[in-house]
Amino acid sequence: MKQDRQKVRAAFREALVCGMRGEKSSLKCLPSFLPPPNGTECGEWMALDFGGTNLRAMTVRLAGGKADILRMKKVSLRKAGAYDLTDGSTTAEELFDAIAHLIADVAPERGDVLLGHTFSFPARQISIDKAELITWTKEFAVQGVVGREVNGLLADALSRCGASRIRPAAIVNDTVGTLLCCAYREPSATIGSICGTGHNTAAVLPDGMLYNLESGNFDGIDMTEYDEEIDRTSLIPSAQRLEKMCAGHYLGKLVTLAASEDLAMLRTGAQLTGEDLSAILADGGESVRTADLIEARFGTRPERGACAALRRVTRAVSSRSAQLVALTYLGILDVIDPNHERHHTIAVDGSLFGKMPSYADTMKRVLTEGLAGTNSTVSLVHAGDGSGIGAAVAASLAEKARI
Ligand code: BGC
Repeated sequence: MKQDRQKVRAAFREALVCGMRGEKSSLKCLPSFLPPPNGTECGEWMALDFGGTNLRAMTVRLAGGKADILRMKKVSLRKAGAYDLTDGSTTAEELFDAIAHLIADVAPERGDVLLGHTFSFPARQISIDKAELITWTKEFAVQGVVGREVNGLLADALSRCGASRIRPAAIVNDTVGTLLCCAYREPSATIGSICGTGHNTAAVLPDGMLYNLESGNFDGIDMTEYDEEIDRTSLIPSAQRLEKMCAGHYLGKLVTLAASEDLAMLRTGAQLTGEDLSAILADGGESVRTADLIEARFGTRPERGACAALRRVTRAVSSRSAQLVALTYLGILDVIDPNHERHHTIAVDGSLFGKMPSYADTMKRVLTEGLAGTNSTVSLVHAGDGSGIGAAVAASLAEKARI
């Protein structure tokens, strides 16, 4: 799974330059119409985090660089054997009614409320508060949302549930939310990224605005036969090629495929999950947890040797993901700071970055090696709750822009 680092970095840089010029590119470079915040944003806002795995509604208080979540409620988008709000049998109305009820549950009792919406999918921004879904990703297939204005669907659902006093005032991608959340406290923040169920990155581009790059769609990296298989059997083949090599939604399947070459017991059709991979990497010498996990998923208890082999494949897949993502950050830095003179803070959220052993360290190492010999330095920070607080910051910026 070796990659030529310089080649990946240069290909990403090239794709970004083309995307910025509006030329053909696998990077969409979607404008957010938002500048970075200056840290003086204040007030109480509602936030919706519509992620790949969960829905979270919350009220957030911003106080000049500080942020507190006052109330929060979270539900899963799918529950095995019970419901699935992400599949093709769900309609836009069903999905947005569930979201509106969640928001109404958390809303302050009285008064008009402005809400910032973090929507974790590629959406064409029409204005700060309006965006149209371009395509679902992460294997979502809900009917009637692609091509529609998402905050309009949300506002209609809020009014159906008697909560029209809650007004969606901003909509941002989760990478933009993560970057806003970090930049609210840290002026050197220039990149925001998600390494979780899905993968994507946002950046402050040379015109001073935040852009959602939709970098999960980057197609400049050679795929292995296992990656090709994941792509071929996905809902939208050829799309989101980098995401399919790097994100939690796909890595469990990728490890299952690659490891089943030598471990026949994995060939049952069942699959490891992203969380399983973290557990395998964290497992100690006796591999008891790994053996329990394989037995539960695939019905056969493996020997220690098989557990060690599985750990080797898991380490290779996870390390490749961290390296590729870090190389895309270097490609961005090459564009936004071509002489490599500044300090940059890169804010990252998501389960791989936060929970997968060695993931963040591998990214740090690739970044440090990639900037060696330059005057540029990088801090890689975990922006937990970027999507919630970032949405509140977006609502506040939207209000400022309106006044
Ligand atoms: C989506 C992005 C999102 C990322 C992380 C990808 O599947 O296309 O818009 O930022 O997941 O949630």
